[in-house]
Amino acid sequence: MKVRRYPDPVLRIRSEEVVQTDKPLKNIIKQMVSAMKTEEGVGLAANQVGITKRVIVLESAEKTVVMINPEIIGKSKETDFQFEGCLSFPNLSVSVERFKELDVEYRDISGRSEKTHLEGISARAFQHELDHLNGILIIDYATAEDRFNYNIYITKEKDEYGRS
Ligand code: CO
Repeated sequence: MKVRRYPDPVLRIRSEEVVQTDKPLKNIIKQMVSAMKTEEGVGLAANQVGITKRVIVLESAEKTVVMINPEIIGKSKETDFQFEGCLSFPNLSVSVERFKELDVEYRDISGRSEKTHLEGISARAFQHELDHLNGILIIDYATAEDRFNYNIYITKEKDEYGRS
């Protein structure tokens, strides 16, 4: 299973809610987990492997968590900036402001509703992957300076999907 790279149009699609976690979807999730591990990522969204369903996998506290239809239900007032990479943009990192702590809700692979508190790298990775499900990418946070430095990726004011 190959991780799609920018400017693959699937990265700009808003993914759909999962209604049923059926066998084909479970198979895809298994492949997502192994793709994430192979590429040494800390998270992966399903549209990064071409599947436009609201599913993410995260490495959190040294275990792999599968989150279906993930949502933020609470967030800290505090935010911070850190450099983030993305498997869809090899050799690019962009400083992104994120909430430091989150409460999130999701369904697990057997369809059970779960809630959890995330902080640090896990909270950041969650926000990054949730962005993927909404077609948002790290280049959307890039400053004019970043854009100048990485003009190999961003050659126009707006990309072909009308985002600046
Ligand atoms: Co990414």
